[in-house]
Amino acid sequence: MKQFTSVNDVQDIGQLVEAALKLKNNPYADQHLGKNKTLGLVFLNPSLRTRLSTQKAAINLGMSVMVMNMDKEGWALETQDGVVMNGSTVEHIREAAAVMGQYCDVLGLRSFPKLTNRDEDYNEDFFNKFVKYCGVPVVSLESATRHPLQSLADLITIRETWHGAAKPKVVLAWAPHVKALPQAVPNSFSEWMCKAQQEGMLDFTIVHPEGYELSEDFTPGAEISHSLEQALKGADYIYVKNWSSFKEYGKVLTYPDGWMMNNEKLKLSNNAKVMHCLPVRRDLELSSEILDGPNSLVIHEAGNRLWAAQAVLKALLQSLT
Ligand code: CP
Repeated sequence: MKQFTSVNDVQDIGQLVEAALKLKNNPYADQHLGKNKTLGLVFLNPSLRTRLSTQKAAINLGMSVMVMNMDKEGWALETQDGVVMNGSTVEHIREAAAVMGQYCDVLGLRSFPKLTNRDEDYNEDFFNKFVKYCGVPVVSLESATRHPLQSLADLITIRETWHGAAKPKVVLAWAPHVKALPQAVPNSFSEWMCKAQQEGMLDFTIVHPEGYELSEDFTPGAEISHSLEQALKGADYIYVKNWSSFKEYGKVLTYPDGWMMNNEKLKLSNNAKVMHCLPVRRDLELSSEILDGPNSLVIHEAGNRLWAAQAVLKALLQSLT
C-alpha cells in the first residue's frame, strides 16, 4: 500500500480486515517495522479518536510520532497557485508539505470541508496538494469527502461481531443534528459497504429523508430508501449518522419528525446492533437508551479504530522497505 486515502487504495478489503484482527491478538509483533521511523499527524480540525488511535497504533509498531495542530500552531497556509501572498496567508502548501515530508516517513492529514463550495470540497484540492508535495506516504485522518480509517474500523467491527449464517443486512440511517455536518463519514462508510457488498460480505441499504441523497459516486449498488420503517425491517446493523445535503450543498434541510434512532424503532429491526462513529449528540441523533443498552457497538467500534490504523500503518511501513 502506497497511501491510504480511500477504499480504492486497498487491494483486498477482506484481507485488510483479517490483518487488523490478527494485530488485535498480537499488537507488538511488528515493532521492528517502525524502528527509526517517524509518523507525523497533521490536524486542521479537532479529533479525539483519530488522534489517539493513530498515535497508539504507531507506538505499537515501534514508530515515533509527532503531532502538529496546524490550525492552532502552524502558519496560515496558502493553497492557491499563482497568487501574490500579500494577504493573511504566510506559507504555501508547496513548502509546508514538502518540509513535513523531510521530517517524517509517513504523514497523516485531517482536513474537513468548508461546506460552501461543493466543487472545491469534492476536488479535494488541499488534500491532493498535500499528498503531491509532501513526497511520503499519506494516511487520511478524514478529508473533505472521506474518512477511510473510520470505515475500515466499521467493517472490522461488523466482521468481528457477525455470527449469523446468512449475510448481514447493514443500514446507514440518517439522523438529525443541529449543525451542518460533512458527508465524509457516510460517503466513506457507503463506499466501503458497497465494496463489501460487491464481494458478497453483506447487503447494504441507505435510508434518509428526501434531499439528503449522497453523491452517486459513493453509493454504487446500495439500496436507497426514504422510509426508515421499511429500511429497518430485517436490519442486523444500523449505522446512525447525520450529514448535510449534497444536492443543496452543505445545507440543513427541513425533514419530518421521527428520524432519531431509539428502542421503539430498533424493534422493527432484527435486534440490530447500533453503530456510530462518535462524537454523538445524545437524544438528538441517537437515544441514550440505545447508547447505554446492549445493542450499542459504539465503544467497541471506537476501540477498533486502533487496529484499523495499525493495519494500515503496517502496510505502509512494509511498502517503505
Ligand atoms: N470518529 C472520529 O473520527 O472521531 P474523532 O473526530 O474524535 O477523531
